[in-house]
Amino acid sequence: MSSSPEDTVHLTVDGAPLAAPAHRTVAAALQLEGEAAGWRTTRRGGERRGLFCGIGVCYDCLATVDGRRGVRTCLVEVTDGMDVRTGAGDA
Ligand code: FES
Repeated sequence: MSSSPEDTVHLTVDGAPLAAPAHRTVAAALQLEGEAAGWRTTRRGGERRGLFCGIGVCYDCLATVDGRRGVRTCLVEVTDGMDVRTGAGDA
């Protein structure tokens, strides 16, 4: 199955451009970006955290999306021009 330009959206992650498949969540896009180990850190110990439950329950996947802090990225679909800030530990 081939992809077309309509199947791809362009967003930025911490200021860097990222092309991601349309209709995926922001968390999935971050994983494609190589953040599989997580894009945040725990307050104590600095352990990596990111996608965990994938269904909006654990709040491990928070980021700032288009200026909105504390967005559960596993619940939000990527859109063209979206600005994602991972802000390790304080999203
Ligand atoms: S991964 Fe658990 S709320 Fe998003």
